[in-house]
Amino acid sequence: MRIRVTSVLLAFAAALVLASPAAARGSSPDRRAAELVSQLTLDEKIQLVHGIGVCMFTPGDYPGSERSLKGAGFIPGIPRLGIPDINYTDAGAGVTNCGARPNGQSTMLPSPLARASSWDPAVASAAGDLIGREARVQGFTGLLGGVSELIREPRWGRSFETLGEDPLLNGELVAHEVRAVQGRKVVGTLKHYAANNQETRRQEHSVEIDERTLRELHLLPYEIAVPASGAQSVMCSYNRVNGTYACENDYLLKRVLKGDIGFKGQIQSDWGATHSTVPAALAGLDEEEFLSQFFSQPLKDAVLAGDVPMSRLDDMVRRKLRGLIAVGVLDDPPSGPGSIDVAAGARVTERLARRSMVLLKNRRGLLPLRRSVGSIAVIGEHADVGVLSGGGSSQVTPPGGPAVPPTCDPEGPGGSRCPVWAPSSPLEAIRDEAPGADVRFADGSDPAAAAALARDSDVAIVFANEWRHEFEDRPDLALPNGQEDLIRQVATANGKTAVVLENGGPLTTPWAGDVRAVLEAWYPGSRGAPAIADVLFGDTNPSGKLTVTFPRSLADTPVGDGPVSEADEVPYDERLLVGYRWYDAKGIAPRFEFGHGLSYTRWRYSNERVAGGRRGVRVSFDVKNTGRRPGAEVAQVYVGLPESAGEPPKRLAGWARVSLRPGQRRRVSVPIAAKRLAIWDAARDRWKVPSGRYKVYVGSSSRDIRLRDRFAVR
Ligand code: BGC
Repeated sequence: MRIRVTSVLLAFAAALVLASPAAARGSSPDRRAAELVSQLTLDEKIQLVHGIGVCMFTPGDYPGSERSLKGAGFIPGIPRLGIPDINYTDAGAGVTNCGARPNGQSTMLPSPLARASSWDPAVASAAGDLIGREARVQGFTGLLGGVSELIREPRWGRSFETLGEDPLLNGELVAHEVRAVQGRKVVGTLKHYAANNQETRRQEHSVEIDERTLRELHLLPYEIAVPASGAQSVMCSYNRVNGTYACENDYLLKRVLKGDIGFKGQIQSDWGATHSTVPAALAGLDEEEFLSQFFSQPLKDAVLAGDVPMSRLDDMVRRKLRGLIAVGVLDDPPSGPGSIDVAAGARVTERLARRSMVLLKNRRGLLPLRRSVGSIAVIGEHADVGVLSGGGSSQVTPPGGPAVPPTCDPEGPGGSRCPVWAPSSPLEAIRDEAPGADVRFADGSDPAAAAALARDSDVAIVFANEWRHEFEDRPDLALPNGQEDLIRQVATANGKTAVVLENGGPLTTPWAGDVRAVLEAWYPGSRGAPAIADVLFGDTNPSGKLTVTFPRSLADTPVGDGPVSEADEVPYDERLLVGYRWYDAKGIAPRFEFGHGLSYTRWRYSNERVAGGRRGVRVSFDVKNTGRRPGAEVAQVYVGLPESAGEPPKRLAGWARVSLRPGQRRRVSVPIAAKRLAIWDAARDRWKVPSGRYKVYVGSSSRDIRLRDRFAVR
C-alpha cells in the first residue's frame, strides 16, 4: 500500500462558518398557502392541525370520519376551499394496511436497512417511487416513511426500519427516497426526530446528550435530507431529549430544524407524542397526532386567550398547505382508493432485493453453487413457504397475504405484533435454479433430523431468522430459538454449509467460523426468495455492504452487555463513538465491519489523487475488476480529521458504486463537500472546518483500506 502526502491547500479560513441551507423565500407554494390561510375561519384552522388515528379505533362522530380511508391517520379537508382530506399511511417497506382496508395489500419491499446495504441512491429512489405510487393509487396524501435515525443501540427493535449507523449514508439515502415519494404527489416524511434509538420505555425516557454529538451525528441526517429531499413533513419522536419531550422541544424544533436547517414544512407528532398545547405550539409543533387532545378545543381556547398567537396557528396551517401545494396534492388530489399493479411491484421489489444482499463470508468459494449439484438440503423455519418481515406499524400485508397463518392480527391497531412471512418460497426458488438436483426440506425444529438430511446431501443451506418489531427491543444479538445450535449441528454434518440470514439488525455470529458461507438477506420483501436463489447460484453477483457493524459480542458494542436501558435518563455516553467510530477508537475488531460485503469477483484499487479547493475535496482513484465475473463494487472514502479536532479516527465522507466487466477499469471520482470535514463548535454555535492535516482512506470496507492519502487545510 502506498502512502503519499499531498498538501492540498484548501482555501478555507480556519474557522469557516458554513452557510445554513435556507430555502428560497416567498416561493409560490408559500404565497398560495398564505392566501388560503387568510380565507379560513378559526375553527377551520384548528381542524387542520390535529388528526385522528383512524385505524387504531373507531372514531365515532369525528367530523368527516366516514370519508376516511382507515389508514394510520386522517384530517378532514375543507371542501369549500378545495383543500382535500388528508389520509396518512405508513411506511418504509411499502404501504401498510393498519385497519384492514379491503384491497389493502401492497408490494412488500426489502426493509429499509436491507435497501441501504446497496449504498445505491437509485435503489432508494426506486423504493420511494414505488411506495409513493402505491400510496397514491390507494388514495393516500401522506406517507409516514423516511426513518433516518442511527442504529445506536444494536438491539433496537426498529433497526430494520432505518438505514444504518452513519449519518451521511442515512441522510443521503433517505433524501433520495423521500424525494421520489413526493415525485408521486404524496407528502413525504422524515422521522423520528430526534435521537429515537430504542423501543424500551420509548414514550418516557430522556436522551441525555451533548450538543456536539447531537449536531454531528443524530441531527445530521435531517440536516442533509431536509434540503436534499424537499420533505414537507418531519415527525417528532416519543422520547424526551435532555429532559424535554421531542415534540415540545424548542431547541430541536424551532432553533435547529426550522431555524438552522431552514425546514419550511410541517412538524407532526408521532402517534401519541404530543404532551401539551401551549408549550408544544410555541416550541414549533404544527400538527398533533393521533388523539386530537391538545390541538383541538384546547388550542382554540389558547389562541382566544392569547396564549398562542394567531400568527403561530396561521404558521402551522400555512406549513401544512404549502406542503400539499408543493408536492401537487392540492391541485391534483388522489382519486383512490384503487388497487396496486401487483406484477409491476413484484419486478421492482425483486430487483431491489438482489441489490440488498450482503455476502458476509464465502470460504473457498462455496458460493455460487453449481447448478449441477446433486442434492441440496434446505433447512429452516418456514423456508418452504416464505420469507420473514419486520413487525409493528411498518408491517405490510403482501400480495397473496401471509404465507403462514399469523398468530395475531397483523392488520390490527398499531401494526403487527407477531411475525409475518411473505409468500415467497426459498425452497421453490432453489428448486427452480437447480431443476436437476434433489432438493429436500427440513424445518429445523428437530436439529438431529436436519443434520441427518444435511449429511445425506451435497450442500446444506440453513435459513436462519431473527424477528424484530416496533414496541420491543431484542434481549441480545443472538439468533433466537435454538438456531445457533441448529447451524452447528448441520455444519458438523456437512462441511458445505451456507447460512442465509433473514434478520432486522446486527447479530452476533459465534457459529460463523463453522460454516463455509453466510449470506445476509435481511427482510427481503415479497419477492425475496428468487432474489436469494439468484445470489446463491450466481445469476446475481452480490454487491451489498453492511451499513451497521456486526460485533463479536454484545460486550464489545458501545452500549455494552447490560440490558437495554430502562432508566428515565439514557445518557449517550459514547458521544461521537456510534457504530464503527467506536470500534475504530477503541481498537476493537468487529466480526463483520461497517462497509463489509464480498463479491464473486475481485477488485483492485490504485492511483489515488486528492485535489482540493475552496469548495471541498475531490478524491479520485482507479477501480479494476480483476476477477472473472461482472460485478459492482461500493468504493468507500473515509476521512480522518486533524488530531486537534477530537474526532473519532475516521468518518465516512463519500462513496461510489461502480459496475465493471471482468478486466474493466474505471477512474472514480468522489467529491467531498467542505461540510463533510466540519465539526460542531458548540461554544460558537456553528460548524467549522478545523485546520490541520487530514487523512484519506479509500477502501472496500471501513477496515479493508486499499489506498491512503493526506491533505491539509490551512
Ligand atoms: C410509530 C410511527 C408511525 C405511527 C402511525 C407510531 O407507533 O412510531 O412510526 O408512523 O405509529 O402508525
